[in-house]
Amino acid sequence: DIAWVNGQISEIGRAKVPLLDRGYLFGDGVYEVLRVYRGRPFALDEHMERLADSLAGVRINYPLVSERLRTLIDELVAQAGYAEASVYLQITRGASVRQHAFPAGCEPSLVLTVTKTQQPERGQQEGGVGVITVPDDRWAHCHIKSVNLLPNVLAKQKAREAGAFEAVFVRAGNRISEGSSSNIFAVKDGVMVTPPLDGHILPGVTRRMVLSIARQEGFPVREEDLPLEFLRQAEEVFLTGTTIEVLPVTKIGGTPLGSGIPGPVTRAIFQAFTRKTE
Ligand code: PDD
Repeated sequence: DIAWVNGQISEIGRAKVPLLDRGYLFGDGVYEVLRVYRGRPFALDEHMERLADSLAGVRINYPLVSERLRTLIDELVAQAGYAEASVYLQITRGASVRQHAFPAGCEPSLVLTVTKTQQPERGQQEGGVGVITVPDDRWAHCHIKSVNLLPNVLAKQKAREAGAFEAVFVRAGNRISEGSSSNIFAVKDGVMVTPPLDGHILPGVTRRMVLSIARQEGFPVREEDLPLEFLRQAEEVFLTGTTIEVLPVTKIGGTPLGSGIPGPVTRAIFQAFTRKTE
């Protein structure tokens, strides 16, 4: 696994960033995770577009040149020697003496890593996974992919301790937002529902692709509020994300969901998604 830190390439365990980097001190930065399938970055333009939105959202001025980043990613992937990889890309406001307001003359810092993809196990894809629900105690700008992930970290750990794969955030006691690192879809009475892009969720690149696949394949789909009750009574539920792709959910809080096995809509969407990555 390798890292690229402001132009310097090294083995990931040896890479160094300054103590005064604001990403480290304040979580003052944004990031992206994208996949490389068969040596090719997947949905790079969509990730670059979202990164530009995140940068604007936190007022970091970084000139993103898609073609330059594409070349850089290609070079790093070739150097890492993986055909299947995950690329992590982080831009922070830079390093300067610690003060909350933006320091003058602070240059943003870009970091990239290329690692082997940590995909869910085959059994999880085939049999589905369990989720728990947790109160959504995050800030009001969840459309920004910021490196402040403490609520997400705590939620995921809670899921792990409960023997579940993912923690699903719930607002105001009954509105589903998303998973700690995934978006969520539920199918009930043949209609697919996923929460809208209203600042409570990340505009997932996989989410967007799944919506377009669903529309292409003629599945009725709605972007609207997803009540917890809808989720509990759903025939099918699945999570989407760059590393998990389309992952069936078969249990909520230990209770089997629908038929208790991954359903036909989830399967069809997963298969159509897989074809896009080939
Ligand atoms: N997380 N929601 C949240 C909070 C996420 O962190 C992610 C992705 C998603 C799915 O978005 P996408 O389909 O664009 O990957 C939704 C990445 C993979 C991570 O933090 O590792």
